[in-house]
Amino acid sequence: MQYFSENRKAQLEAQHYAVFETLLDDELLGYLRREGQSRRPLAVVRKRLVPKIGDTGRVASHAQHFLSSPGPVLQEIHESEELVAFVGALLGKVVFPTRASYLYYEPGDYVGLHQDVSSCELTLLVNLFAGKQPFTVHPELSGVTAERLLEVVVKSGGFPEGGVDVVYPENGAIAIMGELPHQRPLAEQPATIAVLCFKGLW
Ligand SMILES: [Fe+2]
Repeated sequence: MQYFSENRKAQLEAQHYAVFETLLDDELLGYLRREGQSRRPLAVVRKRLVPKIGDTGRVASHAQHFLSSPGPVLQEIHESEELVAFVGALLGKVVFPTRASYLYYEPGDYVGLHQDVSSCELTLLVNLFAGKQPFTVHPELSGVTAERLLEVVVKSGGFPEGGVDVVYPENGAIAIMGELPHQRPLAEQPATIAVLCFKGLW
């Protein structure tokens, strides 16, 4: 498992996202891949046509993809002392694991510009299978009000220009602060992404 790095911590603080080239060893990743595949038939569609400011005050956008709950492998990794301590060191505070899921994208699926729900103070995204998957963060929209962000989403149809394209590492993870506006442009090939959310105790 990836260990703490001051450089990455500084990057996360400055840009609200960071890429970890390695996070899980090959054996764990293998288990996760198998579980991700085996839960695909259980996944339900998530489709949102109208963007909104959600209950937690964060912006939800247009979306179309599939989602499943975690199985025991993802759950165990998410709740492992090692990963929780790693995220805690990155954020400089005590954190706890809040939610985890598998996201599935078919060609043509997407999630427009949004913020993660507030239980995802920090989100780790692991691309379980090789292949380029689009992911764009928008640090230039960091700190804007939810109302303003919603305007941007509505005007752009969920996909504003600009932002920074982030490349998923092969065996690692993208870490983002959940408040950072980000989007998943139209998928060109199928993808399975494991999502692991954490939140500080205060
Ligand atoms: Fe997200």
